[in-house]
Amino acid sequence: MPLLDKFGRAISDLRISVTDRCNYKCVYCRTGNEGALYGELAFADYLRMARVLVGLGVTKVRLTGGEPLLRNGIVDFVRELAKLNTNSDHAIEIALTTNGHLLADLARPLKEAGLGRVTVSMDAVDPDRFARITRVPSGFDNVLAGIRAARDAGLGPVKLNCVLMRGFNEDQIIPFGLFAREEGVIVRFIEFMPLEEDRVWSRSTVVTLDEILARMSEYRPLVEIPHARSETARRYRFDDGIGEIGIIAPVSHPFCGHCSRIRITSDGKIRTCLFSVWDHDLHAQMRRGASDEELAEFIRGVVMKKEERHHIGEPDFVPASRTMVHIGG
Ligand code: GTP
Ligand code: 5AD
Repeated sequence: MPLLDKFGRAISDLRISVTDRCNYKCVYCRTGNEGALYGELAFADYLRMARVLVGLGVTKVRLTGGEPLLRNGIVDFVRELAKLNTNSDHAIEIALTTNGHLLADLARPLKEAGLGRVTVSMDAVDPDRFARITRVPSGFDNVLAGIRAARDAGLGPVKLNCVLMRGFNEDQIIPFGLFAREEGVIVRFIEFMPLEEDRVWSRSTVVTLDEILARMSEYRPLVEIPHARSETARRYRFDDGIGEIGIIAPVSHPFCGHCSRIRITSDGKIRTCLFSVWDHDLHAQMRRGASDEELAEFIRGVVMKKEERHHIGEPDFVPASRTMVHIGG
């Protein structure tokens, strides 16, 4: 029996944030300040949560942060997670979203531990622009090396997440098209959402799907290719068959009706939506000694409360109770 919410959406996609620390300060996400706000659990706790959720039908586990590669022991954790595959009646895909800064050395060990694929955040192909967005002076070379190491280690298809923010990187659209073709990675442009610490979001800062398509088509025609219903990205290939891009358009084309995601924060809270105004303390259940069956029951109840949709840009919009870096993307 799949894990269903009250709108009939099946929850198959679990995202676990293993830390809310991050070594980057991207303008669309963080302030320039240091600092994590929430705690981290022992890996054994995340593992138990994942095991219970896999038992309820989850088929994909994505590790996020903050920056997940900042956590010591991440490779061993992936190895333990991958073992869920042999103990489950269905296959589980394990993926990771990273800023790529520490990926070059970790790609191969992660692959060997059982990681399936990675998504790397990269918001400019121009190194100076990259530094301005990430507010880290010299990260570009690390990230490029990380992307290539991931591709060479077989952690593919390697996807890049590029959040577009007007005034920062909308001129990088075509260069990213070239990059996708040359490097053999899937570049996904993401519409900026109001989840940042600096509260600079307004509709005019969002570079929309229509605008991205128009700009990229000036370079080469695109052909849309089918995407899975629960997939966030619309997919396109270039007309000559070389290179794929995607567009994730939660602002101009919301996809909440097909949402299959549930999130666990670094401190063990369940979030049923990026824009939730509350969360549900799964770790507290564990601390009070709940059995696996009780945890499963708690999760079923929480999933029933999953929000129907977000209200970005509407007059009744209420900001989420956490910003992106403390949720995990
Ligand atoms: P794959 O598509 O499996 O490769 O996973 P992925 O994590 O790389 O991509 P996913 O589509 O899950 O998420 C990419 C980005 O889409 C996130 O970083 C968010 O910016 C956005 N996104 C993901 N899930 C949601 C969601 O539930 N709601 C909204 N509004 N945006 C989301
Ligand atoms: N809007 C859209 N996407 C965001 N991300 C982070 N902050 C935002 C935002 N405000 C994306 C980044 C990162 C992923 C975890 O979340 O692309 O790869």
